Amino acid sequence: MSDKDILLEVQNLKTHFRTERGPLRAVDGVSFTVRRGETLGIVGESGCGKSVTAKSIMQILPLSQAKIVAGKILYYNERGESVDITTLDPQGPEMRSIRGNEISMIFQEPMTSLNPVYTIGQQIMEAVQLHQKVNRETARDVAIEMLEKVGIPAPAERVDQYPHEFSGGMRQRAMIAMALSCNPKLLIADEPTTALDVTVEAQIINLLLDLQATSRTSVIMITHDLNVIGDMADRVIVMYAGWVVESGTAEDIFYRPQHPYTRGLMHSIPRIGEAKRLVPIKGSVPDLKNLPQGWCYFAPRCEKVETICARKEPPTFRVGDEHFAKCWAVGEKEVVS
Ligand SMILES: Nc1ncnc2c1ncn2[C@@H]1O[C@H](COP(=O)(O)OP(=O)(O)OP(=O)(O)O)[C@@H](O)[C@H]1O
Ligand SMILES: [Mg+2]
Repeated sequence: MSDKDILLEVQNLKTHFRTERGPLRAVDGVSFTVRRGETLGIVGESGCGKSVTAKSIMQILPLSQAKIVAGKILYYNERGESVDITTLDPQGPEMRSIRGNEISMIFQEPMTSLNPVYTIGQQIMEAVQLHQKVNRETARDVAIEMLEKVGIPAPAERVDQYPHEFSGGMRQRAMIAMALSCNPKLLIADEPTTALDVTVEAQIINLLLDLQATSRTSVIMITHDLNVIGDMADRVIVMYAGWVVESGTAEDIFYRPQHPYTRGLMHSIPRIGEAKRLVPIKGSVPDLKNLPQGWCYFAPRCEKVETICARKEPPTFRVGDEHFAKCWAVGEKEVVS
């Protein structure tokens, strides 16, 4: 892989929250890369740090409680030069420019980014005008064009409607239109389809796939739903309690999972006709405020647990070409961190 293929490189990111009971290690040493044009899937149970990872990249953390305490988030331009996002002022001009022109994010609940008192058109126009020097008329044309692109019928009329006049699926499309109006290099989609029914979900996934095929946007797709990952992701990282416990190509993760947690996730994929959400593995994600340091956080739930798991944090082992697992049980392989 040449350096010019890399768009984003997260190195040993640690984002902690201040709480009354001490630090909560929401993200605790996460590393991964995103290449140009690829989709990286992030999976893991609720509370494992997926959204906090995304918000760290966007620098939209609640700063009164959250702090990036270690690590780097390197964002690369086309010449292969990088800027470390963690060193930028979240409200400063450089970070605003990255948020507006380079990286955008869509959320599970579209009303998080749509304002109920403005029309859909006004909001997309504002996003367009913030980043492109165009007049109102052109911005309106761009807004209509974007709505059309994301499959909103009669966009020239819909552009003047308010968010509450749109259905859930339409609002999600409008949010995608807004996020894409600046032609981002990276789109972070944080559970964009969880709140939607299955048919609309499939339409939104197809829409993202189409947009990606035509624009070569990189996507970070965060989801509980392994079916979505199977449809979209080139590579996958599996998170557990603030760690990346396994990473690899989608084939590695689906067909050759190495970490007992990932294997558990794969066994819990429901068959067609059954409930669509993951059937959880026995036990639950540990309390991140009370993590005993120096062992594997998955040990209490692990079927392969050995004595060492309760004594020493497992390193990350290389188990294949691009395939890594943080588990003692995979042992006897090359240690990478
Ligand atoms: N503002 C906050 N203050 C304190 N703790 C927080 C805050 N936001 C998130 N956390 C904690 O950080 C941890 C990671 O949360 P995060 O939202 O990243 O989980 P997630 O993997 O996105 O889960 P989900 O799948 O439910 O969206 C959780 O333990 C959560 O309780
Ligand atoms: Mg989340």
